[in-house]
Amino acid sequence: MLDIEFVRSRFIKHFDGKTGNVYTSPGRINLIGEHTDYNGGFVFPGAVDKGVVAEMRANGTEDTVMAYAIDLKDRVDFKLSDPNGPRASWARYIYGIALEMKKLGVPVKGFNIAFAGDVPLGAGMSSSAAMESCFACGLNDIFGDNKVSQWDMVLAGQATEHNYCGVNCGIMDQFASVFGKAGCLMRLDCRSREFEYFPFKPDGYRLVLLDSVVKHQLAGSPYNDRRNSCENVVKHIAAKHPEATFETLRDCTWEQLDEVRAEVGEEDYKRAKFVLGEKDRVLAVCDALNEGDYEKVGELMYQTHEGLSKDYEVSCEELDFLNDIAKENGVTGSRIMGGGFGGCTINLVRNDLYRQFIADAKKRFNEKYGHEPKVYDVVIGDGSRKLC
Ligand code: GLA
Repeated sequence: MLDIEFVRSRFIKHFDGKTGNVYTSPGRINLIGEHTDYNGGFVFPGAVDKGVVAEMRANGTEDTVMAYAIDLKDRVDFKLSDPNGPRASWARYIYGIALEMKKLGVPVKGFNIAFAGDVPLGAGMSSSAAMESCFACGLNDIFGDNKVSQWDMVLAGQATEHNYCGVNCGIMDQFASVFGKAGCLMRLDCRSREFEYFPFKPDGYRLVLLDSVVKHQLAGSPYNDRRNSCENVVKHIAAKHPEATFETLRDCTWEQLDEVRAEVGEEDYKRAKFVLGEKDRVLAVCDALNEGDYEKVGELMYQTHEGLSKDYEVSCEELDFLNDIAKENGVTGSRIMGGGFGGCTINLVRNDLYRQFIADAKKRFNEKYGHEPKVYDVVIGDGSRKLC
């Protein structure tokens, strides 16, 4: 984890020498259940031991925010009352979350903030949700007597993405960042918002991420198109069945999807087909975990990869290559993780195959793309909290 003293020294240096409070929130992994959150389905994330650390303090002004991004060495000051907000994309997370927390009744005034992070950017581990939930946690504490609930902070983070950053994301990332618990994955029903902690200690296996270091940009990107495709299918199904209510693909059956296949077209059909299959796979993974059947879990992960690559079309050449390498090395399960369009694969690998797999992946990826993938051993950590 990041060093608090490092963040503190920068906070002191870049502002008026005083200290504030320090908060942290993690990035996340997701075992299975991709692109299901905005379709009312299930997800299976966990927080990681990498995150964002922010020092924050009310600065006595009505609405001036002075912000310093330590990693970028970039300082931006802005006013909360400015309807446009700051231009820098990192500062928009601060601006957005502050306005969303105000909407929840937190009397946010001017504050100083310096932050740093060690969630790899563009790896699909949700560095943005880590920022949103960290800043929300700080503002809730400093200005709001911690009255805003954890779920409302999750929703404020999501609204920040929607309203200020141009990504119509679901709730998985912010949920995992706020509710994470060391050693546990969480199965969340994104429709009812009920969730369960699943202690995750696979005997003889480990989870490892291979980061292709191919960057994705979700804003104004195919991510929102995928969501539109799913919503379009729901609209067509709803029109055919006025007797029932259809909010998301969660409410739709395979038969209903087949009924609208011709009218929605092959592309939207394939998107919805993936989502319906993925919904069932998360539940099957839960059963397999309860039985300690990790080989079954892995098989389902490969199926998810196949669907994300061929039907949802959010993979890319580099990630398909990493997936093939995993298969050839006898890795139990492997798939692209997160929104897609770059990022990393998550791999469930037997301890005795781990070294050989990593060495082979590094060598062959380097030969083909001129650089090695980055390797992150997954450590499942705690969610948002105040450090001091
Ligand atoms: C991104 C979004 C999430 C989720 C995943 C795909 O991480 O922020 O809400 O949709 O993609 O599962």
